Amino acid sequence: MVGTSIKLNGIALVGSGSATPSQEISNEHLGDRVETSDEWIRTRTGIGTRRISAPQENLSNLAHRSASEAIVMAGWDPADVELILLATSTPDDLFGSAPQVQALLGATNAVAFDLTAACSGFLFALVSAAQFLRTGSMKRALVIGADQLSRWVDWDDRGTCVLFGDGAGAVALESTAPDQDGLLGFKLKSDGRRGDSLTLRQIDEHLPLVDGSSHQRGGFSPIQMNGQEVFKFAAREVPMILQNLLSQTATDAASLDWLLLHQANQRILDAVADRFAIPHEKVLSNLANYGNTSAATIPLMLDEAVRSGLVQPGHLIASSGFGAGLSWGAALLRWQGPS
Ligand SMILES: CC(C)(COP(=O)(O)OP(=O)(O)OC[C@H]1O[C@@H](n2cnc3c(N)ncnc32)[C@H](O)[C@@H]1OP(=O)(O)O)[C@@H](O)C(=O)NCCC(=O)NCCS
Repeated sequence: MVGTSIKLNGIALVGSGSATPSQEISNEHLGDRVETSDEWIRTRTGIGTRRISAPQENLSNLAHRSASEAIVMAGWDPADVELILLATSTPDDLFGSAPQVQALLGATNAVAFDLTAACSGFLFALVSAAQFLRTGSMKRALVIGADQLSRWVDWDDRGTCVLFGDGAGAVALESTAPDQDGLLGFKLKSDGRRGDSLTLRQIDEHLPLVDGSSHQRGGFSPIQMNGQEVFKFAAREVPMILQNLLSQTATDAASLDWLLLHQANQRILDAVADRFAIPHEKVLSNLANYGNTSAATIPLMLDEAVRSGLVQPGHLIASSGFGAGLSWGAALLRWQGPS
């Protein structure tokens, strides 16, 4: 019997955008709130300052600003967008914020929904959106990574509050000819058994309902983290998954133009680069300016690198995200840019 072979489309990354909130809180500022110092934070993490949303700055607006920049760069009309995938752990509404972003964009033909995979969310969403484009069922998708962890950190816990910031980043993806594929390979992983090391859990508050029954009130406790466990997890899993990705795609680390990792800690970025003998100039980093913006770090960094001319059309980028879940992933990307 002769099998039918389906020709799958390629995926082109044709636009990017980003947005950050207006308030800037430096390490020195944080020293007024918790016992810490610029020197401690910089040495242990590489972070110098971060952007924190004011009460009126919501997630949907940040996501919308980044997505509309990506649409403009791609040269699309909002009505061209068929899918909006919003990677976030901090929606304005637990029912989902992507439809609000769709409304703000005027992307009336797009289906829009949220995807939650913490700091790995953007890569998970990128790969998920790519499946719709590969099969040809959709042609244009927006993938947004946006988070406001400032709303969920304990601002009196110096072990976590110094690490995080708020932001959003977006990419515009188009289906393209198979030989112009910009998603050359990917690997995604989860391990719930190790999830306790980084959580943003429901509060445990039981209230009486009727006749001896009870219910639990909704609400979340601030982020809890075992920093050393998370550090060890990232330092071990990120090089492994990148090695798998490079082997799977028969790619030599020396042929990479850029290493684009989740921006959590400069020491992790440097250690991964050293493991693959990648010169530090090829490691994209904006940690010093934003801290860890969760699902936003990778597209925010990509957008800055594209707009500053560092990332050029045709450049090969190895990317890896990691975070709560635990979850982690890697993707080999070729930036195309607008045609
Ligand atoms: C959080 C992290 C920076 C802490 O660095 P570390 O070298 O492991 O530091 P430790 O937690 O061992 O703490 C060392 C000391 O610094 C203190 N400390 C912790 N936070 C501090 C702060 N902000 N300022 C000053 N001192 C601090 C601790 O209390 C501890 O003091 P002690 O020795 O008197 O007990 C590091 O573990 C890390 O980056 N982990 C990964 C976190 C991450 O990336 N999370 C997100 C993943 S998506």
